Amino acid sequence: SKPSVLVCRAVFPEVVERLKTWFEVESNPGDRAFTKPELIERLKGKVGAFTTGSVTIDAEVLDANPQLKVVSNMAVGYNNFDVPACTARGVLCTNTPDVLTETTADFGFALMMAAARRIAESEHYLRRGEWSKWSYDMFVGSDIHGATMGILGMGRIGQAIARRGALGFGMKVIYHNRSRLAADVEAQCKASYVDKATLLRESDHLVIVVPYSKESHHAIGAAELALMKPTASLTNVARGGVVDDAALAQALESRQIAAAALDVFEGEPKVHPGLLRVPNVVLTPHIASATVATRRAMADLAADNLIAALGFGPNAGNPPSPINPEVLRA
Ligand code: GLV
Ligand code: GLV
Repeated sequence: SKPSVLVCRAVFPEVVERLKTWFEVESNPGDRAFTKPELIERLKGKVGAFTTGSVTIDAEVLDANPQLKVVSNMAVGYNNFDVPACTARGVLCTNTPDVLTETTADFGFALMMAAARRIAESEHYLRRGEWSKWSYDMFVGSDIHGATMGILGMGRIGQAIARRGALGFGMKVIYHNRSRLAADVEAQCKASYVDKATLLRESDHLVIVVPYSKESHHAIGAAELALMKPTASLTNVARGGVVDDAALAQALESRQIAAAALDVFEGEPKVHPGLLRVPNVVLTPHIASATVATRRAMADLAADNLIAALGFGPNAGNPPSPINPEVLRA
């Protein structure tokens, strides 16, 4: 009989059908996120799990399911996995890099523009029926072209955003990252490395693309916001928790910075009430990778990873994007 896998959230039926070629597949009929006890129960007897960012795989889940061999995340970020705990138990983790890079960069750029040019705020004003006259200073924002864009976290997505700014909009691009990029990569995206304080002080538009980790927790808090220009915008397409949302709400309310745009939140799907109160922030429900083509590519890659990691299909034993490949070698 075929090995069993759990698909933790609803996904394209065609992708589930493909998994059924190789596996007994248990789906999540209601597509409500499993509670931890439900997840532990559903994983009983499963050797693989197809997960999304809302599915937490930690030591408790693993210890209750020692038969589990592979967890395949349909996301590039994987802070929902305790990777060291997985590695220690010989569980392979995979994610979906590359296929979402350009789509996510498009959205990050769009959010930055929406914040700088006050697109959401002015649209709400129009819908409220308040547009009765023109004034010279109605919804004046700040320019994108010619401005300085700062990028915190210069991975694939950060580089794709940098290229848009430098090549498409004539922006000056500065970045800060744990490690400096190679000179040829810097040249390709016309980006200059600066220290974090310089990044905060000089950016007209700051874009956060750094993965969440203990080290990046609240990388942007009150002290960092205090260094930014009063005319600056801040955009977060990385993860909730990289920005201190309470401190950001305060900085927006007091106009310490001009505007923000957020696709990710601490404790999402809840949103800090302070952010819901201020007009100068654009809020979207974690949709940066949400195009039809890209979500399908992510689902296909997550399926490819699960199939190959469990020893089936054309790439048996060689999943395309392992996070802890040392498990494969062991
Ligand atoms: C989405 O947030 C992802 O990590 O792919
Ligand atoms: C994040 O992991 C990225 O691809 O930039």
